[in-house]
Amino acid sequence: MVIIRKCRKADAKGIMNVCFKTGYMGEDATGHFSDVKLFGLLFCLYYPRYEREHSFVAEDNREIVGYILGSPDSELQERLFLAKIGWRIPIRLFFVTSWRYFQDIKTILHFIRLPRSNPNFNINKKYPAHLHIDILEKYQRKGIGSKLMDKFETHMRKLGVKGIHLGTSEGNYKAVPFYKKKGYKIIHRDKMGMWPDAPEKRGLLFAKKLI
Ligand SMILES: CC(C)(COP(=O)(O)OP(=O)(O)OC[C@H]1O[C@@H](n2cnc3c(N)ncnc32)[C@H](O)[C@@H]1OP(=O)(O)O)[C@@H](O)C(=O)NCCC(=O)NCCS
Repeated sequence: MVIIRKCRKADAKGIMNVCFKTGYMGEDATGHFSDVKLFGLLFCLYYPRYEREHSFVAEDNREIVGYILGSPDSELQERLFLAKIGWRIPIRLFFVTSWRYFQDIKTILHFIRLPRSNPNFNINKKYPAHLHIDILEKYQRKGIGSKLMDKFETHMRKLGVKGIHLGTSEGNYKAVPFYKKKGYKIIHRDKMGMWPDAPEKRGLLFAKKLI
């Protein structure tokens, strides 16, 4: 039976597995990226260490099958991420990725060179919280995403957070209808997608007001 519970530090490995298995616009990132640890450092490992009280996991038979990770204060989170995890990324890149997973360097360079564009207002002021939600394929479309989203939004409302934002891709055919169904609206479109093999699938920024 799938249970939803608060995230723990020991969930890091299971979270990294779900993150990678759903990391390519909602599909398995295998074949598009190789260094699973670097992928985790970039996209999810910060949360079970530093935002456990704001993150939830779905567990089946002691296996992490889904999660919602996030923070109520994205401005603070960005600074903490750089201080706590950011420094590990160049070290991993230099000492491991560039030797063992050289094929990832092209993707990393694409990430770095992405033309940045932002809405013409401070997103972190209007929608201070952000989230990442991912569920293993076998467990999708069973209402788990909705339960995780409800938990997270209720928690954020209790903290008095005004709104939530999140990023996805035009190529994510499951997440886009899911977010719309949950009341999120597209507030910005990037110029290009984050994957070098699908640059036409642009990044999307969704947001929702809570109060
Ligand atoms: C997007 C995701 C989190 C949705 O979670 P889920 O548990 O499958 O969603 P739910 O079962 O709670 O669905 C709620 C509603 O969202 C919509 N929805 C969910 N998945 C959908 C899909 N694949 N296609 C169209 N609509 C979908 C439907 O309206 C659905 O209601 P319904 O089943 O009564 O029709 C899940 O598919 C997922 O983890 N995908 C892979 C990772 C990913 O893309 N994460 C987001 C990265 S930005």
